[in-house]
Amino acid sequence: PTIYAVTPTYTRPAQKAELTRLSHLFMLLPHLHWIIVEDANATSPLVTGLLERAGLEKRSTQLNIKTPPEFKLQGKDPNWIKPRGVEQRNLALTWLRNNVDTDRHSIVFFMDDDNSYSTELFAEMSKIERGRVGVWPVGLVGGLMVERPYLSEDQKQVIGFNAAWRPERPFPIDMAAFAISMDLFIRNPQALFSYEVQRGYQESEILRHLTTREKLQPLANACRDVLVWHTRTEKTKLTAEEALLKQGKRSDGGMEV
Ligand code: UGA
Ligand code: MN
Repeated sequence: PTIYAVTPTYTRPAQKAELTRLSHLFMLLPHLHWIIVEDANATSPLVTGLLERAGLEKRSTQLNIKTPPEFKLQGKDPNWIKPRGVEQRNLALTWLRNNVDTDRHSIVFFMDDDNSYSTELFAEMSKIERGRVGVWPVGLVGGLMVERPYLSEDQKQVIGFNAAWRPERPFPIDMAAFAISMDLFIRNPQALFSYEVQRGYQESEILRHLTTREKLQPLANACRDVLVWHTRTEKTKLTAEEALLKQGKRSDGGMEV
């Protein structure tokens, strides 16, 4: 099956580094289609150029939609941190519902631009059956070395999760922990991401429309292998660059970094 990987992305100093890593993963994986959705009012030459250089023009889709300012993360809100990627993932879902050939089996994966993914994860995803959501462990997330589903004795069913952070969530797993058979999105047109959910409930919000815990399909060696890590890149320190800018100079004149 074709795997559609949906990546929201936004402009910041490390963006090209993150997307370069991902583009090289796609070069190794011919059955992937990359839907890259920029959090901006227009698509950027940085992303277009990157897709071209990786030879991904024919199996990528470049979209854009800006997060409305009232939903952009600001650091004020005490206990209601705004979710990221909502607008962008929903635009991708609209594109998928309008453009994917529904007679053919395909899979949707929400792929953040800063995580670390093994190529082996995508081989596992290809095993997802029609009408099902595949799940697997994610490393370095939720305050644990690994968040993982617990399986029944025959290893065919998910019977629980080891999450330490908000374990009461209907699906206490990270966005990187699952992928979805496309037919579920066609059968459930109401399935969308939402701003109206508590912090950490974005995964549960989309999954509650599509599946139940009992129907989840465990993958990655009965959920014993870690093939994706929720890495986060440190914010780039640019004190010297800011000093240069004050003098009307810059280190990256005429260069794309
Ligand atoms: C965690 C999850 O891994 C995300 O999938 C989930 O969207 C997020 O929490 C959430 O609760 O909303 P985290 O590492 O905290 O992820 O989030 P980021 O990696 O900063 O953002 C997730 C995605 O949204 C990234 O691909 C990022 O490029 C994109 N993003 C972030 C935007 O498009 N616009 C922004 O303003 C910020
Ligand atoms: Mn992240």
